[in-house]
Parts: sequence; structure tokens; C-alpha cells
Amino acid sequence: MKRFDNKVAAITGAGSGMGRALALQLSAAGCHLSLADRNAPTLEETARIVQTLAPAVRVSTRVLDVSDRDSVFAWAEETVAEHGGVNLVFNNAGVALSSTIEGMSYSDLEWIVNINFWGVVHGTKAFLPHLKAARDGHIVNTSSVFGLFAQPGMSGYNATKYAVRGFTESLRQELDMMRCGVSATCVHPGGIRTNIAQSSRVAQNMVGFMVESEQQGKDEFEKFFITSADDAARAILNGVKHNARRVLIGRDARAADWLARTLPAAYQALVVMSARREAAKARRRASRSSAATP
Ligand SMILES: NC(=O)c1ccc[n+]([C@@H]2O[C@H](COP(=O)([O-])OP(=O)(O)OC[C@H]3O[C@@H](n4cnc5c(N)ncnc54)[C@H](O)[C@@H]3O)[C@@H](O)[C@H]2O)c1
Repeated sequence: MKRFDNKVAAITGAGSGMGRALALQLSAAGCHLSLADRNAPTLEETARIVQTLAPAVRVSTRVLDVSDRDSVFAWAEETVAEHGGVNLVFNNAGVALSSTIEGMSYSDLEWIVNINFWGVVHGTKAFLPHLKAARDGHIVNTSSVFGLFAQPGMSGYNATKYAVRGFTESLRQELDMMRCGVSATCVHPGGIRTNIAQSSRVAQNMVGFMVESEQQGKDEFEKFFITSADDAARAILNGVKHNARRVLIGRDARAADWLARTLPAAYQALVVMSARREAAKARRRASRSSAATP
């Protein structure tokens, strides 16, 4: 898809981060928007900003949880009813979880799988028939750098993002075989400056293993965020224009991809060394600050 003007895009997770940045850039290009998020105030804020900056663009909003299959299918129908069709779907909504496998509760694991994996599946299946009907469509599924390489304490996130990658690569191959006017791209962002770390779940079992407190774990996670959400959205839309099969965002994502492909087994030992070093640094910092507290 070379141009976005007068197209219709559906975006999940549009209330924050990359979802909001995609909404702003698409509307600036003249694309009409159907926006969804589970957070009503931030979703409405995105819609308000879009309406102020691009008053000619039609914007509809839907508060929903992407893990709720019926809601996602109802939203796809609503989108077509309100906009007369749909050309792009960005299955972008996602959450993060830090936990050891040994200590991980099934409810935490089910929470992240339901959102990060099933949310992408529901969005793909709900919108695909409408994209095919338009004969000019693109599905953009957000995986992660953690869909390319694994990390201790991130098994739930890793599992969902590897699953999104496999699902989307297979989808793209099927669409290529069908020659139906619809394509698909898998997105692998590195660290992007968004709210994902602060809204993540850090399980208690991580404290003393890799982090020294829940908040310190979130703050450490954030230190790896080197790319802005605006730059990430620009890279994603450029990938759609070039019909890329996958989009790596940031030098961190490109380095991790290279490492995992070059040393597919040995990279894991390097990750363990680095995670041990970071955990030791966090312990030293925590003991210095508790010694300084009167
Ligand atoms: N920020 C990063 O460093 C990074 C790196 C790799 C991949 N990602 C992925 O990028 C995507 C976007 O994340 P972001 O970084 O912009 O985070 P963000 O937290 O800023 O935005 C995520 C949005 O998704 C919404 N959301 C969460 N759960 C939802 C649900 N069940 N139903 C509907 N909406 C829901 C949130 O309310 C929020 O508005 C996610 O899939 C994330 O896993 C982010």
C-alpha cells in the first residue's frame, strides 16, 4: 500500500505509545481511523488530538479488551458500518510481564497470552474478510525484539511475541499464495519510549532474582528504551509502504536479530552473563541506597 489518504485504519492500543503515534501519523496522511483501547480516557484523548490536528479525518472509537473475541469481531463490523470499509489493521495492543517460570502464576501467564497472542489472532481473523472485500488491505501485527531472542524473567512475553511472529509469517505466506490484495507485516520493536514498562506486571518472585523491587524492575526496563514512539510509527508505516515482511525498529533490535541468527545457541550464554551483571548492579545500588537511608 503506497498511500494512506482516504484509506481506513483500525488500531488497537490507540490510547498510548506506538498506537497513538500511528494514529497521529496516519491521520496526518489523510487516513480515517477506527481506534480501540481498553483505557477510555486515553483513547478519547488520542481521538481529540487527531480531531484537532486533522479535522477532515473521520475518527471512531471503541473501548474494548482485545482478548475478548466477541468484542473484537463486533468492533470490526462497527468499523465497516461507520467507515464503509477498512484497509489496515494494526494489532498493536500489548502488555509486559516479568516473572520466573517457576514462580509464575497461571493467571499472570493467561493474562499475557490472552492479550498479546489471542488479541492479535482475534484482530487478524475479525478484520481479514473485510480487508479481502476491500482488495487493498494490510495487517500489521506487533511482535517484539523478544520475538527474536529470549531473556530470563520474560518467558510469558517471549512466548507470546514468538507466537505472533510465527502466526504473522505464516499469514503473510498464505496471503501471498492467495494474491487477494491483502498483505501482512510483523513488527519487531527494540526498546521504545512508551508507557509499557510502567504499566507492566513485575511478579514478586523477580525481587532478589533479577531486580531489587517492583518499581526498580520497571525503571531498569525503561533504561533500554532508546527510540521514540514517533520514530517507531514512522518505521512501521514505511514498512507497510514497502510491503516489508518484517520491520526491525532500532539499532538494539537489529543487533539482537544479528546475534540470535549468528549465534543461535551461544547467544543465550551471553544473555545470562549480562543478566547476572545487571542483577548484581541492581543489588549494589539497592544496598547503597538502604545504607544511605537514616
Ligand atoms: N515499548 C517497547 O519497548 C516495546 C518493544 C517491543 C514491542 N512492544 C509492543 O508494542 C506494542 C505497543 O506497546 P507500547 O510500547 O506502545 O505500550 P503502551 O503501554 O504505551 O501502549 C499499549 C496500549 O495498549 C492498551 N492495551 C493494553 N492491554 C489492552 C487490552 N487488553 N485491550 C485493549 N487495549 C489494551 C493500553 O491501554 C495502552 O494504551 C505492544 O504490543 C508491545 O508489546 C513495545
